[in-house]
Amino acid sequence: MDIKVKKADPLKQKTPCLVLAVYEGKLATSLLKDLDRALGGALGRAGRAGEFAGKHRQTLMLHGGPALAAERVLLVGLGKEKGSGFEHLRQAAGTAGTFLQERKITGLSVGLESFAVRGDSPERRAQAVTEGLLLGTYRFDRYRKEKAEELPPSLKQINLLTGDQAQARESRKGVENAQAICRGVALARDLVNEPGNVKAPEYLAQCARDLAREAGLGCTVLGPREVEEEGFGAMLGVAQGSVREPRLIVLEYRGGNGDASPIALVGKGVTFDAGGISLKPAEKMDEMKMDMAGAAAVLGTLLAASLLKLPVNLVGIVPAVENMPSGSAIRPGDILTSLSGRTIEVLNTDAEGRLILADALTYAKRFNPRVVIDLATLTGACIIALGHHATAVLGNHKGLVRQLVRAGGECGERLWELPLWDDYAAQLKSEVADVKNIGGRPAGTITAAAFLQKFASDFTWAHLDIAGTAWEEKGRAYIPRGGTGVGVRLLLEYLK
Ligand code: BES
Ligand code: MN
Ligand code: ZN
Repeated sequence: MDIKVKKADPLKQKTPCLVLAVYEGKLATSLLKDLDRALGGALGRAGRAGEFAGKHRQTLMLHGGPALAAERVLLVGLGKEKGSGFEHLRQAAGTAGTFLQERKITGLSVGLESFAVRGDSPERRAQAVTEGLLLGTYRFDRYRKEKAEELPPSLKQINLLTGDQAQARESRKGVENAQAICRGVALARDLVNEPGNVKAPEYLAQCARDLAREAGLGCTVLGPREVEEEGFGAMLGVAQGSVREPRLIVLEYRGGNGDASPIALVGKGVTFDAGGISLKPAEKMDEMKMDMAGAAAVLGTLLAASLLKLPVNLVGIVPAVENMPSGSAIRPGDILTSLSGRTIEVLNTDAEGRLILADALTYAKRFNPRVVIDLATLTGACIIALGHHATAVLGNHKGLVRQLVRAGGECGERLWELPLWDDYAAQLKSEVADVKNIGGRPAGTITAAAFLQKFASDFTWAHLDIAGTAWEEKGRAYIPRGGTGVGVRLLLEYLK
């Protein structure tokens, strides 16, 4: 896909389709009046007939008129101007992108002036519009071998039109940011969408190695023997039921001062979660290929951070395992000795994410991190609490949680804080070991975080439960069906 930014009059631009955004009820701007004239009054007639009012994500396509250089024009609604923000730009651009993609129109020109939003700058506006277009037209089609010609094509030529050269220069920066960010998101989505038979732990490891070579990152992969020698007992307990051997993946990006301590990003990498001996029900078990979405977010963030040359040091840590039932699997009642030395009574083998994260958090300490953030599709309870509209955040440091919540609001990946009061930890008391891996029905997302907290006491830490946000069932605005790549944009915004 080729994206160009240029100074041009939208109405004089030759293009298969001109895309303009319209606020609700604002059909009389000078640009739209000029457009209506160029179309011989077609826009006014459509408006009066009630076919288009600029409502949120509403679309209207009109074909060229006597004085319009474009073959067509697509109007896309931004909704009410009051209270609008960058999220509305991304949604409108994503809506326009998919609309055209479904109709196999692959060249478009966007009148950026029409996408003006309160508090914006040419750079941020262009970034939001480009993100919406790139993320909205992402597709995972690699296994659709038959009738490939019927699949929606990718966009080929995008022109972003600005009023003057200075704006064009600024906008180009926004486009470059968006391209880097969206590469990270697309990588994360690809990894999540990949089926479980393909993405064994070693697949994630190889992906990390390839990434390291491409982006100039440091990469270390510990195999089963090294993991055993080091004493990752909790992680090994989960892995022992699968014939696919575990990997502990470490990626390092050094964009900051040589001696500055890094921010550690830890991602749950369960490549398939059948539940183990505490087997999950058959219905929707297929979706558990997404149980490595935390890992995917970490890999995507490291890729994008290096493309963006962010001035920070990062270390990504991914414990990668498969959780399967078998004759060699852990049993309910087994006791594991974690890397920290703490013993864990495993009462439900389906609460495996916290086991591998416990060891990964303990391991993170070796990097002397300034901050540790973990991302995990950790609990079904999180979907009960927040549905699919927010990621849960919990942590041991108010300031970090506040910064993450703010970053989420900026980028459209919203977070909601749940409490992590000491009281909850009582639910994890074991009679036979130091801690047990389930805390009963009440507050499942919080007790899972309380479990992790025991392994994160030595540093500033936040936990993101992305169980409800990592997978999109139907597809909306700029989030197609499947893996969402959640976490990548959030972390990049936080790091920025
Ligand atoms: N990976 C699941 C959580 C999950 C569920 C993520 C649905 C996305 C969608 C996790 O490993 C799990 O099975 N958690 C259990 C914990 C319980 C046994 C304490 C759960 O939520 O049921
Ligand atoms: Mn599970
Ligand atoms: Zn899981």
